[in-house]
Amino acid sequence: MLGAGAPVPYGDIPGKFVAPNLTPDPETGAGNWTDDQIARAIREGIGHDGRALFPTMPYADFRHFSDEDLASIVSTCASLAPVHREQRKNTFFPARYLIRSRPSRWSTR
Ligand code: HEM
Repeated sequence: MLGAGAPVPYGDIPGKFVAPNLTPDPETGAGNWTDDQIARAIREGIGHDGRALFPTMPYADFRHFSDEDLASIVSTCASLAPVHREQRKNTFFPARYLIRSRPSRWSTR
């Protein structure tokens, strides 16, 4: 089940958050996502489908990853054994609207 997603155990905020299936399963995982889509989620907080991710995904910290570290992480995801596992969608109203302005473009400056 490595990389196949799990509930994020936060007791102090409302809502329940589930980390996605990042294994290369094409139907329920990241098998059809491009490297750039995964990289953008990690460093900029935009999901493969263009959605602003909940900040439970610590992309604000991950934006400090170097290009090389990021590439290593993306290729590690691609090397995982595919796991067919549908994950619950994170839809916490109204936070999904409030977080829309949170992601920002990554730059070297
Ligand atoms: C290097 C480690 C990590 C990688 C490679 C990673 C990768 C990703 C990616 C690619 C997405 C976007 C999925 C999509 O496009 O639909 C995502 C979302 C998410 N991640 Fe991470 N993540 C990491 C660490 C974490 C950690 C430490 C947590 C929580 C403690 C976390 C929680 C989440 C959650 C809850 C989402 C879904 C957010 C939403 O649906 O809005 N992730 N992660």
